[in-house]
Formats: sequence, C-alpha cells, structure tokens
Amino acid sequence: MSDSNSSPANRPIAIFDSGLGGLTVARAVASLLTRENIIYFGDTARVPYGTKSERTIRRYAVEDVNFLLRFEPKLVVVACNTVSAIAMDHLRGTFRVPLIGVVEPGARAAVRAAGRGKVGIIGTEATIASGAYQRAVRNLDGGIEILALPTPLLAPIVEEGREWDDPVVTAALRGYLAPFRDAWVNALVLGCTHYPVLKEAVRREMGDEVTVVDSAEETAAEVKRFLCDKEMLCDTPSFPQRRFFVSDSSQRFLSIGRRFFGADLVNVREISPDEFFFQK
Ligand code: DGL
Repeated sequence: MSDSNSSPANRPIAIFDSGLGGLTVARAVASLLTRENIIYFGDTARVPYGTKSERTIRRYAVEDVNFLLRFEPKLVVVACNTVSAIAMDHLRGTFRVPLIGVVEPGARAAVRAAGRGKVGIIGTEATIASGAYQRAVRNLDGGIEILALPTPLLAPIVEEGREWDDPVVTAALRGYLAPFRDAWVNALVLGCTHYPVLKEAVRREMGDEVTVVDSAEETAAEVKRFLCDKEMLCDTPSFPQRRFFVSDSSQRFLSIGRRFFGADLVNVREISPDEFFFQK
C-alpha cells in the first residue's frame, strides 16, 4: 500500500475523521492543493467519537494514525475536531509524522474575525468539555469573551442527509444558537467536521454581522502554509490520486459523503478489522 518510491514531497497527505464529516476538510484541502495525493480514512464503524471518553478517543486516534502510516504520508491531518481537541498532544508524543489538527486554525480565524468582540464555539460534547478551543482562543487573546456550548444533535442530523433548509435543521439551529444570538457574539466557530454543511443555515440564523468560521477552510490554509514552509508541495503534473478508506459500509459513505466532498467521491474501499489492526 505504501508509496515508498516517491520523493518525500510527492507522498500523500493523509486525513482522518471519526466518519464522513472530515470530508469537508478533505474537500477544502483538495480544492486548495489540487496536485496533492490524498488518502482519507473515516472510522465509520466506531463513529461518533464525540460522546466517547477521552481514553477511548485517544486509543481510536492512535489506531487511525497507525492505519494511515502504511501509506507513508508526508503529513497527517486530524480532521476530527473531537480528536484534535482531546488527543493532539498524545498523538504528537506517539508519532514522528507531522500532524495538523483543526482547533488551532479555527481558533486563529475566530480571534481575527471577532476583533475585540466575543467568540462563540459549537461542537460535540467531548470537544466543548475538553476546553481545547477555549484555551486556543485565550492563548491568542487572553481578554476575549467566549461562549462555548455543545450542539450534539447537529452531527446526526447531517449524517442523516438532511438539507440545510430542512425544518428539522432550522428547529435545531434555532434552539442551539439562541444563546449565541442573545450574547451578541461576533464570530461563531463551527467546531465539528459536520457543521460546514449547515453553514448557510447557521448564517441565516445568526445574521450578517456574525462571522461564521469554518475550521475546514482554515485547516486547508494551514496545510498549504506548512507544505510551502517545508518545501514539500507535490510537484508532479499528473492527475492526483484521491483514495478513501472506511471501517464500515462504503455504500452509505458514498451516498451521503458526496454532500461533503462532491461528485468526485469515488475510489472508496471498506477495510476489514484484520487490515485495520495490522501492525507494521
Ligand atoms: N468528527 C466529529 C467532530 O468533528 C463529529 C462526529 C463524531 O462525534 O464523531 O467532532
């Protein structure tokens, strides 16, 4: 499975998530870095991570990175906000491969957008409880006001394939976003892989004065900066390879995943537990 013949710059970028939501990050990376080979892994057999304990999230994250290392990636992007919030230090202490998470880029964009105003953050229960986004924002601006609340129904609603103008989406967003409207936040961070799909509905609910921060786009920009700095941008003119692996039901991943990645979502393979737990 490895691409060991290729020069370091031409090795793939690996991206993983608890499921299909990380395809929002993969799409942002693929459209910003059109020449890069991308390997995506979605742990669809064990999603959601956002309701699991920190210990379990760390264990899953290590197994996910282990799986991806057999492709000899030049970089691993942790698209899952829950893993980025809870397991980045653990992953950095465990692996030598460069790792980029979504929390720091999202926090930077939020502070930039909010100016001296207030930042709102929504995400899974585990992400919000970890306080990782809150810490990242405070590290950048100690005086900034933050309102962070979990919005656990949103990821399953998106997984179910509901459109952004569906009445169920509207009702859930109205309830969840009311405290942020009441607090007059200036920027709202979409701190979960699934939420960029609802960006238009969130904008409609929050109004034009609020900047909606999409961690996916910010992370793609961070990936580009990293590769430019290290002179690791892929330089082959050929058509880039995009490969997708899931730990359960590639059919469902394909049909719903196209909402996240677009029609280019092909080449999806379901891996067996034996392959997944195989150690090099
Ligand atoms: N990928 C997760 C995140 O971004 C959302 C889904 C889950 O709970 O696993 O936090």
